[in-house]
Amino acid sequence: MNADLRLYLTAARDVAREAADLVRRHRAEGVSVRVKGGEVRELVTTADEAADELIRARLLALFPDHAVMSEETAHAGATLDPETPTWIVDPLDGTSNFAHGLPVFSVSLGLWWQGRPLVAAVCEVMRDWLFWAASGQGAWLNGQPLRVSRETEALHAVLASDWTHSPERRRLATHLFARFVLRGHAARSLGSAALGLCYVAAGWLDGYVNLGLDPWDAAAGVLLVQEAGGLATDARGQPWTPAQEILVATNGPLHATVLSWLEEVWEEEG
Ligand code: IPD
Ligand code: CA
Ligand code: CA
Repeated sequence: MNADLRLYLTAARDVAREAADLVRRHRAEGVSVRVKGGEVRELVTTADEAADELIRARLLALFPDHAVMSEETAHAGATLDPETPTWIVDPLDGTSNFAHGLPVFSVSLGLWWQGRPLVAAVCEVMRDWLFWAASGQGAWLNGQPLRVSRETEALHAVLASDWTHSPERRRLATHLFARFVLRGHAARSLGSAALGLCYVAAGWLDGYVNLGLDPWDAAAGVLLVQEAGGLATDARGQPWTPAQEILVATNGPLHATVLSWLEEVWEEEG
């Protein structure tokens, strides 16, 4: 691994862990929850904001010439400058779970440059599981290499999706989810897109689809999926980029099937 990549990876892992510690402390001490931006289902807590502040401060101190796009301080509609290395950060992914006491949420950091992810770290906060990947260096969980599943049959597949904030996309997602339930082995909804992607990388899920992502939800997870041997694309099968709202991530053999189900849903319900 070249020296720069090693430096970025070390920073991503250290900062993700430090932010996860902070989120755990906030959970223990109590947080205040409020609705964000007028959308009744979109919540933000004091832990999201504190983690955002900490991560930004750490990354900009380490890399003053990099940019940071972090959910709680990003401008609406902010776009990436591909020539500036940019940390795309979700300081707390799974805020609905967090606010309801459900212990499934993560801190997610991905560094992108020239249209590609370079390093990624996702910390599953309550288990202290650190998922990470670096371009060309594989995907890892707490020092163990990760590999996507080998499943080829949709009927045996465990597939996951989550619920977006847009009511229209939610409706479409229910139709896709129904296909996962009726045509696959089982369907899951974890409430953290970043963790859904890490679980695909680990081979615990065979696929994960989200129909309404923001860049920070998947900027780290897609590198984990790719480095573990899977595919992460938009609805047409093109490599996912942070500008895409739709993400289809699978182990590879199941990709065409899942894309075809999405197309069916779009034609019938869209
Ligand atoms: C949410 C989660 C959820 C996804 C939503 C996201 P947040 O992120 O990733 O799984 O379906 O679209 O907004 O708000 O908890 O950071
Ligand atoms: Ca998120
Ligand atoms: Ca978040």
